[in-house]
Amino acid sequence: MVSQQDDAPEAGYDPMRQFAELAGDVRDPYPMFAGIRADTPVLHVELGAGSGVRYRHDENAPRISSLFTVTSYELAQQVLTDNARFSSAGYEMTMGQVMGRTILQMDAPEHQRHRALVAKAFRTRVLDQWSDAIIGATVGELIDGFAGDGHADLIPQLTFPFPVRVIARILGLPEADWPRFLRLSTQLIAVMRNWEGALAASRELRGYFAEIIADRRRHTRDDLVSQLISAEVDGHRLSDEEIYPFLLLLLPAGAETTYRSSSNLLFGLLSNPDQLEAVRADRSLVPQAIEEALRWETPLLTVARSATEDVELGGVRIPAGSFVAISLGAANRDPGQHAEPDAFDIFRERTQHISFGDGAHKCLGMHLARLEMRVLLNAVLDRLPGLRLDPGADDPHIHGLIFRSPPNLPVRFD
Ligand code: HEM
Repeated sequence: MVSQQDDAPEAGYDPMRQFAELAGDVRDPYPMFAGIRADTPVLHVELGAGSGVRYRHDENAPRISSLFTVTSYELAQQVLTDNARFSSAGYEMTMGQVMGRTILQMDAPEHQRHRALVAKAFRTRVLDQWSDAIIGATVGELIDGFAGDGHADLIPQLTFPFPVRVIARILGLPEADWPRFLRLSTQLIAVMRNWEGALAASRELRGYFAEIIADRRRHTRDDLVSQLISAEVDGHRLSDEEIYPFLLLLLPAGAETTYRSSSNLLFGLLSNPDQLEAVRADRSLVPQAIEEALRWETPLLTVARSATEDVELGGVRIPAGSFVAISLGAANRDPGQHAEPDAFDIFRERTQHISFGDGAHKCLGMHLARLEMRVLLNAVLDRLPGLRLDPGADDPHIHGLIFRSPPNLPVRFD
């Protein structure tokens, strides 16, 4: 088993700084999205032959010369549920370069086959087992670290470490390895910022996972890696080469999104104290608070597809092969779907959102994400009485254009 070394590079490593940089310093992209949506539901930007952006950071990578961005809820749904005309294969040029072949980049029928195998490990029966033993225990330990202080910054002290630790536990990784796992996870996730660092982290994680998988093949345990090894659909099982990419995908897909969505939920409630008090008094409101937070500030703003044939969408012609960005953030704030979309309102009639995507690739971890947010919010309400934003906090806010969440959340409690 691989364990942390004394001279490990995680000493002095500050993952929070890397994440703050990654989110970008855009405070409020929503007026821009609203302007585009009012103008056209599908924005076409021609970048010009030879001058377009690259999918990946090498000289030979193809350039994208034409971009289509979908901003309406209805059309976003239409694209995401039409996997025949809008393929996910383009992820091979981005995420695929650091993770290997994941289900994210597969199209039918390969996608269905593969997803059925990994989905077995995310059934609600399995999740129920994790609820107290893993998720509750993780939140409890983190809150223990500051509950006696009367104040905290909920991002570095709670929401940031929370989901990576949950994943480390779900995978059954020894506690001594967590700091190293956290560093490698953060470097992998920061792929848009530091390509070489992400590739190096991916190689190291692969070596690390190889030992874990070999260990579980020898001694089956009650963890996700053992479940992936034994999952079987129509006589097919996952090979090690198929398990690595899935484990690597869990980090950006499962850790970063959940840290940001939990942070946005706490931010939404703390900046609307009447709604925070309503949820504190009536916990049956927790699920709708979670859905509204996901709608209001989706942690991941955009997903991508490419057109497999010439398509007409919202009156705009999209040539075969074009890159199509689906703005989940813009779709969630579409006034055609939600009245007063910019308001955080847990009492709105419909909180239906598209933050987990839609169609065949709809988030595999959405039940886990909701469970994590629920356990976290209930623990915060139970253990931090009188929770409020620190009146001396220096301008708490949500920011980001690729991912969104608050960089800090200083609070006080009694
Ligand atoms: C609030 C938290 C989360 C959000 C907002 C989120 C969002 C998304 C979105 C939008 C997609 C679709 C991507 C696309 O269609 O291109 C997706 C897919 C996926 N998510 Fe999540 N996710 C969250 C949490 C999680 C968690 C906790 C896990 C697992 C530990 C997870 C695992 C996955 C996987 C494996 C896929 C790929 C599914 C496929 O391609 O079939 N996600 N997620």
